[in-house]
Formats: sequence, C-alpha cells, structure tokens
Amino acid sequence: MLDKQSPVPMYVQIEEHLKRRIVQGEFEVGMAIPSERELTELFDVSRMTVRQSITNLVTEGLLYREKGRGTFVASPKVEQPLSGLTSFTEDMLSRGMEPSTKLVRFKKVVAELDIAQALQLAEGEEVFVVKRIRHADDKPMAIERSYLPVKIVPELNLDAVEGSVYSFIENHQLAISHATQSMEATLVKKEDAELLQISVPSAVLLIERMSYLTNGMPFEIVRSMYRADRYKFISEIRR
Ligand code: GLP
Repeated sequence: MLDKQSPVPMYVQIEEHLKRRIVQGEFEVGMAIPSERELTELFDVSRMTVRQSITNLVTEGLLYREKGRGTFVASPKVEQPLSGLTSFTEDMLSRGMEPSTKLVRFKKVVAELDIAQALQLAEGEEVFVVKRIRHADDKPMAIERSYLPVKIVPELNLDAVEGSVYSFIENHQLAISHATQSMEATLVKKEDAELLQISVPSAVLLIERMSYLTNGMPFEIVRSMYRADRYKFISEIRR
C-alpha cells in the first residue's frame, strides 16, 4: 500500500492514504479511524510514524483526538467569507447550523481609556462588556469579547446577548453600516482553551472588529477568537 522506495516520507504517504479515505467518505464525520496499533500493522511501519501522520491530520483539522477513546473524523471547517458585515447568528443559520451562546460575562462598567477613545466616549462614560462563547450545533466555535456604549444601546439585555446583538440593534431603530477588521494568529490562553475545549498550546485566529452605525457612531468593539480547527476564512481578491 505504501511505496517504501519513494522519496515521499512514510508518514506523508500515510497522511495521504487516510485523507483519501476521508474525502471518499469511507470514514465519515464523527467516525473513529483505526487505532494506532492497527495502522502500525496495516502499513508495517513504526508507531512513531503513524503517530506523526495522525498528529499532522489533527493539526490540519481533519481529525480530532479524544482521550482514552481514539481518533475521529472532524467536521469540515466552516468557510467564512471576509466580505460581508454579518453576525455570528446569521453566519451559522445560513449554513444550516444551529447557533447558541454561553454567556460568561455581561456587565456595565466605566470604559477603560483605550476602549473609550476607540468608541469616541468621554471619560467616565459606560460600556457593556460582554463575553460569550459562540456555539454551532452545540460545539464551541469562538469566544467573543464585545464592548458596546451604554448610551447607544441602553436597553441591551440578557436575551439579546444570549441571542443576536445585531438583531437587537436593528430592532431598535439603529442601522448598522460598516466595520473595520483585523486578523492575526495567536496562542490561546489556558482559561480560554478550556472554554473552547481545545488543548494548550493551540493556535487561534483573533479577529478585531470595530463597527459603525449609518450615522457614523462606532457601536461595538469586538475581539473574536476563533478555533483554527473549525474555521477557514475566505476572501475574494481582484486585479
Ligand atoms: C460576529 C462578529 C462580531 C459581532 C457578532 C454579532 O461574530 N465577529 O464582531 O459582534 O458577529 O453576532 P450576533 O448578532 O449573533 O450577536
């Protein structure tokens, strides 16, 4: 099955073999792949080699490991376009996935200097601080920390932050216009890793969004930390 004369390393050949079986649907999403021992026998290679291939496929997001249970086929990554100003709720619904939110923090505080400046607030003005874990089909996808000026959304409530903040805003005679966004890779902190149910160290994608109403007022700053094994960001570029 493997070509031992080939310059392509054994672990790469095993990766390709497993990938093929996943893509062809022989191993379905959520299904366990054969154990390391079985693969070692099947390919007649060392356990180290098999482990290397599996680790690479886990890093790529094709497989995931569960302690004491085995290695399973992961759901395909969510392909998130970077072009539209959409909400998490809209993004998941448009894919036929069920969005849900676990609220970690929701409070009103006097804005810290940097947040106040970015949101064009005067010293002493208040913001809502919201920390939420966003789920799709009950699986954690991202952690979001948002800051919203109290004077813009004074009635922001539990129902809204556990549902869709954008729907709440648009149901309150406010019109969302545009946003600026940045994206960078970072390593997840231990506390957030637990919330996202990923191991430490893991890379995550950090997106910062600053969004404006049509009247030019900024209404949110959001730091979203996306699981790198669940997301792929897509943008269209033109020449
Ligand atoms: C996305 C964006 C956030 C935005 C959120 C609103 O996740 N990254 O910046 O605040 O959507 O989502 P919802 O309306 O579901 O609360």
